[in-house]
Amino acid sequence: MTQSTEATDARSTIRQCAPGLQPRIAVVLGSGWDGLTDHLTDAVQIPYTELPGFPQPGVAGHGGSLWLGCLGAQPVALMSGRQHGYETGAVDGMAEPLRVLKSLGCHTLVQTNAAGSLRPDMPSQSLMLLTDHLNLPQRSPLVGSSGSERFVNMVDAYDPALRAHALRMAQAQGATLFEGVYAWAFGPQFETPAEIRMLRLLGADAVGMSTVPETILARHLGLRVLALSFITNLGAGMSPENLSHDHTLQQAQLGSAAASRLLADIIVSLE
Ligand code: HPA
Repeated sequence: MTQSTEATDARSTIRQCAPGLQPRIAVVLGSGWDGLTDHLTDAVQIPYTELPGFPQPGVAGHGGSLWLGCLGAQPVALMSGRQHGYETGAVDGMAEPLRVLKSLGCHTLVQTNAAGSLRPDMPSQSLMLLTDHLNLPQRSPLVGSSGSERFVNMVDAYDPALRAHALRMAQAQGATLFEGVYAWAFGPQFETPAEIRMLRLLGADAVGMSTVPETILARHLGLRVLALSFITNLGAGMSPENLSHDHTLQQAQLGSAAASRLLADIIVSLE
C-alpha cells in the first residue's frame, strides 16, 4: 500500500516525539477508558492537531491525543479520541491513523467503547468482550478502495486467541468479563425502545455508536483485533433511567479505574 503524504508527515512527527519507540499494539480509548494512560511509562502525548490525517477538533468535537509509551515491557500507541460516523456522516475517519500506526509497527488493535446493554443480567458497570458485531447501518469505511483485499473476511474478526487471553486475565483478576455481540447503531440519537427490542431479537448483546468501522479497517490492514465494551446503561426502555450523553460519561467515569486496570493487565501480557 502506498503511503499518503499525511501518513508520512504524521509518522515523522511521531518518530521525532518518541524516538526509538516502536509501538506494537494500538489502542482506541472510548468513553471511560482514558485511565489507561495512567498506566503508561515514558509517556509522550501528541495532540491530534499536530498529526495530519488524525481526527481534528471541530470534527471530533473535542481535542484528541495520541499517547506513546510502554505498558509493562509492551510498546503501545493509545488513541484518546476517535472519529464517529455520526459526526460528519463519513465512516472512514480512523483510516489514516490506523494506517500510520500499522506503518510504525503495530500488529494488533485493541478497541474500547461505552455501550448500552441489551441483557438484563449484564447491568451498568459490566465489561463485555466482543465476540462479533452487527453492522446495522451497513456502511463500510472501505467503499472506494480497490483491489481484491477490500473483500475482507469478517469471520473471527475479533481474534479468538486474543479473546481467550482476555478471559484468562479477567479470571486471574477475579473480574467478571461478559462475552457478546455488539450492534453498531449510527446515532447520534439513542435507540427507541422498539429498536432495542428488535436488536435483542437479532441476537445483539450490546449497542453502541463506534468500533465497527475501525474493526473493518483493521482487518483490511491485517491487524488482529480485540474489543471491550464498558456498559454504561441498559438499552432504552429496559429500565426507568433517563439516557443522555452526560449519563453515559458519568457512568463511564465511575468504572474507569477498574476497566483500565483489567485492560492494562491484558495488554501487558499479550504475546
Ligand atoms: N446506545 C447507543 N450507544 C450507547 C449507549 C446506548 O444505550 N450507551 C452508551 N453508548
